[in-house]
Amino acid sequence: MNYLSINSIDNISDWVLEAKNLKKEPLKFQEIGKNKTIGLLFFNNSLRTRLSTQKAALNLGMHTVVMNFGSEGWALEFEDGKIMNQGNSEHVKEAAQVISQFCDIIAIRAFASLTDKQKDLAEEVLSAFVKYATVPIVNMESSVGHPLQALADAITINEFNTVLKPKVVLSWAPHPRALPHAVANSFIEMMQKQDVEFVITHPKGYELDPKITKNSKIEHNQNKAFENADFIYTKNWSSFNDYGKIISQDNNWMVTKKKMNLTNNAKFMHCLPVRRNVVVADEVLDNENSIVIEQANNRTYAAQVVLKKILEKIDSTY
Ligand code: CP
Repeated sequence: MNYLSINSIDNISDWVLEAKNLKKEPLKFQEIGKNKTIGLLFFNNSLRTRLSTQKAALNLGMHTVVMNFGSEGWALEFEDGKIMNQGNSEHVKEAAQVISQFCDIIAIRAFASLTDKQKDLAEEVLSAFVKYATVPIVNMESSVGHPLQALADAITINEFNTVLKPKVVLSWAPHPRALPHAVANSFIEMMQKQDVEFVITHPKGYELDPKITKNSKIEHNQNKAFENADFIYTKNWSSFNDYGKIISQDNNWMVTKKKMNLTNNAKFMHCLPVRRNVVVADEVLDNENSIVIEQANNRTYAAQVVLKKILEKIDSTY
């Protein structure tokens, strides 16, 4: 009943279709969430995920409670058997069970630390809540994945696609801060399950986890990758091998009009927030081919289909 990665989706085409139907009639299933509460726990900042998941829950008739755990909750301990005589006040073992008394679904945002690769790959926070909570868990971006974003991306590509088998390019772009791999990971996993020609382009040294990229095509020449593309999805990520490090900020990788001119009049996508004139030039972001706002809008319907599926399973359990 959890939504932890895109592998929690049993049939992507069906879910995309259902999301598009919910977009047409968002309030059609107001009864399904009646008297149910979702708790949204944020260990990190958010605009889109926070508001779209609340909106999705409200569309389904749910109550929402939101907690900025990073700043408002007791500092959590995750290690089993720990002698808790230092900074952390509460063990996740109690916290997760207690939150489960108040909420029918718990949604969690907990980014990668980018300092401890093993803990990040083990999804320390998300896994602990899955282990100790007694209600379904939704991943609102964890160390390794952002499956709500990836589902919204699939919905958006489906809506805007005009060709039989579109060429979709995931392009790294520079950024002044070290960013996690989660968005890129989930987007790659989603594209691997779609009928698309998929290409990843990044400077050498920015290889992602090979367990994620598998046999996806990687092209180190960004201009070549952009040729005849139908969708350009841009995202920065820090080094995976030299874990969490910025090894290049080459602004030649910024997405410009000149680069977009190499494409098949491609649509421009980004999960947002985006740094203008660092990741992408104003002329691209403000162009009519930029679909980032509709992509963000689709976050609601991605979250709504996920919550609806979980609520249906909760109902069928009792
Ligand atoms: N794309 C995305 O997850 O946005 P927020 O970080 O603002 O939630």
